[in-house]
Formats: sequence, structure tokens, C-alpha cells
Amino acid sequence: MGSLNPFKWQGSNKVYSLPWLKNRLEYSADPERIAEYAKTPFTRSRFVMTMLTQFHLSRHSIVVSEDDHAMWLKRVSRSHMPTDEAVPQMAIALMTRLFPPPDPGEQEQSFHLSDRLIRELYRTMLGNVMQVEVLKPLEDYITHTKFPHGSRPMVLEGVMYSFRLGLPFLRPIRYFFDSLFFKEVLYMKRVSAKLEQMVYDFTIPKPDSWFSTLAALRESGKITKAQFRGEITSMLVSSFSLASALGSALLCLAARPQYQKKIHDDPAFARYFVMEVLRLYPPFRQFGYQQTTTDKDAHHQGGFAHEFMIPVFQLHRNSNIWKNPKKFYPERFLDPDAAKGFKYLPFGMGKRSCPGRNFSMSLIVQALRFVCSDESPVMLVKRDSLPRGKSGRLVSFALDDTITYCGK
Ligand code: HEM
Repeated sequence: MGSLNPFKWQGSNKVYSLPWLKNRLEYSADPERIAEYAKTPFTRSRFVMTMLTQFHLSRHSIVVSEDDHAMWLKRVSRSHMPTDEAVPQMAIALMTRLFPPPDPGEQEQSFHLSDRLIRELYRTMLGNVMQVEVLKPLEDYITHTKFPHGSRPMVLEGVMYSFRLGLPFLRPIRYFFDSLFFKEVLYMKRVSAKLEQMVYDFTIPKPDSWFSTLAALRESGKITKAQFRGEITSMLVSSFSLASALGSALLCLAARPQYQKKIHDDPAFARYFVMEVLRLYPPFRQFGYQQTTTDKDAHHQGGFAHEFMIPVFQLHRNSNIWKNPKKFYPERFLDPDAAKGFKYLPFGMGKRSCPGRNFSMSLIVQALRFVCSDESPVMLVKRDSLPRGKSGRLVSFALDDTITYCGK
């Protein structure tokens, strides 16, 4: 019977401990359990790093680096993030490119948000975060490239990881299956490698920019050429998470136009609106950690499995901790304690949490405020329903992402 019962359950949390699993893997959407875990020494899980590199991330980026490297490089990147004063202009430029004036005679215009948003955010990240001037070949490549958001389903990634199918000598087999079933994965890997090369070849860094600082670190030998290029690719992935979040925010706004005036009038409320969007539609549906100690027994101290996964989507919709979790209700964040206590984690937690969180939050808030303002030349056309999230992927985009707008 034991072998027919594939997963072993322990306590209120799921602990997967199949014999063929590389390590015991615990899933928890319980804030108390997460809080307990947060007191222990942990780092980003290998499983998540594997998934991220299978997405289209370079193997040399900060995201998949060891803690020491990530820590100081994160400080460098934080010190180059756009200031709060710079973000509103950036948001206006972004929204203006996203919603060009409808053609003469056209009442309304519709398009699929995610592809266009990824492209425009990529431009924003290059111009304002990496701070480079983009030369024509790169500009043309970005304009004409499609950016699908495909990755393999998470369950499949998990199985591959457990069976160690990531090993280099198995690459041809993976390639074969990807070319049969997951063409987008291969396509995105190609696009990402090409972009990395083109950003390297066809940009001019502004003085004191993030890019020129990275170049100086490269010159002095503090980072390798591969790591320098890896940071370029991490921009690509963060453009995807930001596109997912901003896309969901615009779709929610179109579905709930009654909030437009409040967003226009009250910046604090605009922030609650974005928080609610990230609660219901966290771009990273799950992420995870592992203990940093090398002592094997210590992995299980406090009953923690070797890898600790947080299904953020479930955590944010857990009815034991959220009132009416499925209801889109930004007002819940008027309560200053609403997001406290490890129940709201769209940007992760602890030392490996997202360094782009403040920038991302203010960019989305400012973008929405502009769309709701009198100065905005466009008006979103009401949608009938809130977006539905695409499940089972590493970075989740809205499924039904057609947005319609008209000129004012
Ligand atoms: C709404 C948009 C974004 C969301 C929801 C998001 C979410 C996340 C999450 C969940 C993690 C993993 C946290 C953890 O393991 O604890 C992460 C890591 C990271 N994010 Fe973001 N992110 C966003 C935008 C950005 C942007 C715009 C940047 C860059 C400017 C960025 C840079 C990074 C980096 C470098 C890491 C790795 C940090 C480390 O390894 O220690 N993210 N992000």
C-alpha cells in the first residue's frame, strides 16, 4: 500500500518525501509555519534556481548566485535604482508607448497586453535602470521580437529536478522533448541569449549608470564577463515579473472602473489597489528556500524539510487568514496590519527578497495614476470580469489579457 500512496503528509503541511525525490520538499501556505522557518538560516532553494535558469535566466546572474555574491551586488543595484522623483515621468512614458492614440476614425483599440508590455518594460529597464542608450540594431530587435511568456509547467520542472534531469549530459534529451512539446522554452532561450549579446554590443552606457558600474567591476576583475552578461539577462526576467504585475493591475482597473477616481485622488489608495492586485495575482506563484547549514541532521531541525516551498498564490488566498480571499477588495489594506505576519509575500522574504520591490510598486502605482488622470489621453474600456491567472507556470500572466481602450 505504501508505494500506492505516493506522497507522505505530515502535520498541516504537505511534505513530499518520495524515495526518488532528491530531498524532502515541504509546501506551506501557513503563515505561522513560514514565520517559524524565517527564523532559521536559509537561502534560495536549488529547485527554484533550477527553474529560473530553465526559464530564460543566465546561469551567472545575481539571482542564482551564492548569498555573499548576491548581497554585495544587490547593494550595487539598489544604489542605482531610479529615485522616487524619477518614476512618475518613467511611468508616463511607459503608458504613452503602451497606449498610442487610436487610429483616426477608430473608436476603440484592443490588443494583448503581455507581449507589448514585456517589450515596453524591457525598454524602460534598459533606459532607466541599466541606464544605457539603445542603438538602432537593438531597438529594431526589441521592436520586432515576440516575447511569449512560456515556460515548462512547474510540476514537470519539479519532476525533472527530482530525477536530476538537469545534468549537462542529459541536455540533448531535454532538447529533444522541448523541441517536441515546449518550443517556446527553446525560443525564449534563443531570444534571451541574443538580447544579452545585443545589449552588450549595441548600447552606450551613461556615466555613473548601473551598466557602467558593472562594466567597471568587470574591468577590475571583481565580476567575470559571464556574470556581467548574466546581470543583463536578469533585467529581462525582472521585466517579465513587472509586466505580469502591471498587466494584472491594468486588467483589474478595467474590470473595476469605480476605483479610478479614488486612484486619481489618493496616492495611498492607489498603493492599496496595487497591493490587492499582487495579492490575487502574484507574478511568482511560488518560490522557495533551503537551509544553509551543511549538517545533514540540521536540515530537519524543527521538522523542516530540506527545501521549503511557499505557494504564494495559495497563501494569498488562504481563507483562514484572509476575509473573503477571492474578493477584489483593496480596502482590506486600510488596516495597517493586513500585510503583516508572513501572510503577504509577493516579493519573497528575508535576505534573498526582491531588491526591485520599491521601484516596482511605485512604477505600477504611478502608471495607474496616470491612466486615471485627466492628462491621460486614453480611457480603459470596461471589462466584464477580473482576469484569470495562468496556473502552473513560474511567472504567471493573466490568461485573458485583451485590453481595450479609447481616446479621451
Ligand atoms: C512586480 C514586480 C516584481 C515581483 C513581483 C518580483 C518578485 C520577486 C521574487 C518573489 C523574488 C524572489 C524572492 C525570494 O526568493 O525571496 C525576486 C527576486 C529578485 N528580483 Fe524581483 N520582482 C519584481 C520586479 C523586479 C525588478 C523590477 C527587479 C530589478 C530592477 C527585480 C530584481 C530581482 C532580483 C535581482 C532578485 C534576486 C534577489 C536575490 O537573489 O537575492 N525584481 N523578485
